[in-house]
Formats: sequence, C-alpha cells, structure tokens
Amino acid sequence: MTTPKKLFIKTYGCQMNVYDSERMAEALGGQGYVATDRADDADMILLNTCHIREKAAEKVYSELGRMKPLKEANPNLKIAVAGCVAQAEGAEIMRRQPAVDLVVGPQSYHRLPEMEAKVRSGQSALDTDFPPEDKFDHLKSRPKARRAPAAFLTVQEGCDKFCAFCVVPYTRGSEVSRPAARVLEEARDLVERGVREVTLLGQNVNAYHGGTTLAGLIRDLAKVDGLERIRYTTSHPNDMDDALIAAHAEVEKLMPYLHLPVQSGSDRILKRMNRSHTAESYLKLIERIRAARPDIVMSGDFIVGFPEETDADFEATLDLVREVRYGYAYSFKYSSRPGTPAAERPLVDPAVADERLQRLQALITEQQQEIQQSMVGRDLSVLVEKPGRLAGQMVGKSEYLHAVHIEDTTAEIGTVQKVRVVEAKRNSLSAVVR
Ligand code: 5AD
Ligand code: SF4
Repeated sequence: MTTPKKLFIKTYGCQMNVYDSERMAEALGGQGYVATDRADDADMILLNTCHIREKAAEKVYSELGRMKPLKEANPNLKIAVAGCVAQAEGAEIMRRQPAVDLVVGPQSYHRLPEMEAKVRSGQSALDTDFPPEDKFDHLKSRPKARRAPAAFLTVQEGCDKFCAFCVVPYTRGSEVSRPAARVLEEARDLVERGVREVTLLGQNVNAYHGGTTLAGLIRDLAKVDGLERIRYTTSHPNDMDDALIAAHAEVEKLMPYLHLPVQSGSDRILKRMNRSHTAESYLKLIERIRAARPDIVMSGDFIVGFPEETDADFEATLDLVREVRYGYAYSFKYSSRPGTPAAERPLVDPAVADERLQRLQALITEQQQEIQQSMVGRDLSVLVEKPGRLAGQMVGKSEYLHAVHIEDTTAEIGTVQKVRVVEAKRNSLSAVVR
C-alpha cells in the first residue's frame, strides 16, 4: 500500500468556500490524499481564496511568499490556489509566484483530479473556464464518511444582479442553479451520513430555479425523512417571492432565521448601488415576512462609506437598522474593486467612513445584545453539534442560530433538544434540558 499524501487546505471568505473546500478534499481523497492541519507537513497546500474586498489578492501573494520556503524544504510539495482570487488573477498568480503549481477557478473543481495528476508529473495546471456542466456531479464523494449534524449544500452559484460595488458577478459568473433532483439526492446522502440540518447555499439563493423555485425545493426537502432543519443563504430582497414567504409560515422544518442584506438605508445610495429596491420596499417586505413568521430573526449586510455617501445617507442607514432590529448584522467599509462600476467614483474620506462603521457596529451590537438578553427564560430547540469545553456540556445551535451551551447533559450529537435558556453571554446562551 502506498502511504497517503497529505493535504493542507486554508479557506478564506464565505460559506460557499467552506463547502467547496470540503468537496475538493473529497475529490483529492480519490487521488490518495488525507487531510492534515499542518502546512509544513503537507504534500499539497491548497488556498481557497476570496476576492470580495480589497487586498484579498495581496494577502494571497504574501501567504504564498511565506509558503515558498516549505517548497524549498520539500521538493514534493505542490501549491494550489483555488477560489475567486484564482478566477480573477488566473495565470498572473504563477507569473508573480512561480512556486504555485496549480490554479483553479470555482467552476472547474471537478477537473482537480486530472490537474493534480498533471502537476505530479512535473507540469503546471491552470483552469479558470466556465464550463456548462455541473461540477458537483463530478465531485462525487467516496465511501460514506460520517458528517457533522449541520452541513452546507450548494444549490445555486453566481449572480446576475450586478450591484455596483460587487465582484461576484465577474468571479462566480452568471446565475446557475443545480437541478432539484441532484440537490435532493445529495440531501438524502447527507442524512445517511448523520446530517440533520442543511443550509442551502447560493450567492443569490432565493433566485434559485433548478426546475422548481426555492420555495418548491424547500418543500421537497422537508419531505426527506431524518432531515430536521432547513436554512438558506444569501438572499436578495427582490427575489423574496410570496411562495417563499408562505414557506416560512407553513414549513415547520424551515428555521426562523433570514439573512437578507439591504446594504444601505438611503434610497439615493441604494440607487447608485444598483440595488433596485428602496428602504421602504425593504421594510415593507420585512413586515410581510414577520406577518408570516412573527418570531423570525433577521440578519443583514451593510456597506458604509459607499462613494458619495453623505451624513444624511448614513443617518438613514441607522434609522433602518433601528426599525428592523437585527438579530445579526455584518457591516463593512466600502472597498473599491477594480472592474466594478463604483470603482470609478470618488471615495468618502476614510476617517469619516471608519467613524461611520464604528457607529453602525455599536448600534448593531446593542440590538444584538438586547435580543440575546431577551432569550433568558425562553424555551428553544437546539441541534446538538459537539461537546463543549466543560465536562457535561454540549454545544449546538438554536432555531434562531444562537450558539447554545447545554449544561449537565448526556444529550447525543445529532439530536434536537428542548432547552430552557438560563443565561445570556456575549456570543452564546447557556441552557438546561427541559
Ligand atoms: N466593499 C465592501 N463590502 C462589500 N461587500 C461586497 N462587496 C463589497 C465591497 N466592494 C459586502 C456586501 C455583501 C457582503 C458579502 O460583502 O455587504 O453583502
Ligand atoms: Fe454581489 Fe450580492 Fe449584489 Fe450579487 S446581489 S452583485 S452577490 S452583493
């Protein structure tokens, strides 16, 4: 028997990259690789990169620079770059860092096994095409390994929205949905491996159209025995249709949590961002969602310091945040991305943008803590994911996506427990089984 080769993967960015890294590890498993968590011990280092905000490419180049000595120490080491920086930079990566052997864009991961064989034969390999086939079809996994109870499942990739600040339509290409039958097949396979909760992933997931709508897909998934929880992310306000809102009211397995980025509360800025919705239409939409599922916890994304954002525009964002009361929200300082329409526009003074970011984050934290505190004494259901740090403690997620520590329990991993919250900490809740 040949000794297995060791694979070290470092993943940057979004949940889709986490999912892709798992699929790539499985595909390379077929080439005789096992995972290692030490770069200095690896036969292949794979960086799965993100390009959403500035300096991403530069960070990758400096990481690659740090890895070069490892290659000098181990001539068998191969270095691979995947993800959106690979897509955006292409052959430039090998030109700037000759230690790199393999560059693969997000649409070509099914070609990894042949590419790996090619680099083992001493050549380099580059693929940043957008082929028409379903890459996950070819990324069939090997013998049924056990999986953690909560898993990601990619159902849609790419985006046709072209928000003026965003590189996704360029790096991930236009919207492509996986056929519902394949998604269902993968979900059943995950359940057989111990998965109880899936989060359906897509850059614009609620625009899903793989033979049915996202609402239809969720209803089909809800019929899969053993699958207990369904979530989805990330959505665009304009694709939240009536059927999807109704699913939140009617499908018990669909969890009461929704990530629905708005980016700004100012109509003037939303227009310049090419978001094609207004603050008011967004608030109305949330009203309808809350009418369907009153306890839903909302989550969002914000960009501050978008070109030409005034103090009044920023105040409108704060007003919108106060009105929505987010359970979670992610805010970013605008970062100019070459090739996007907004990149040509004059920047807001960085000190002003920093100050706005701090104010927005303070407001979001305050709201979040209030919601967190309001959970004390409440009954939640928790999917148990792993043991906690203390004896007798297990950790998992509530239906609202809170991290929950269950104390003094013998609850098994993969079970859903009814618990009562006894204490709210900054980033987690403590609870006891009821
Ligand atoms: N600058 C800052 N934030 C950005 N995002 C996307 N592009 C940019 C950019 N150029 C944020 C958006 C998006 C999240 C994933 O990242 O808020 O919803
Ligand atoms: Fe980017 Fe999301 Fe806008 Fe698509 S909808 S362009 S992924 S911010």
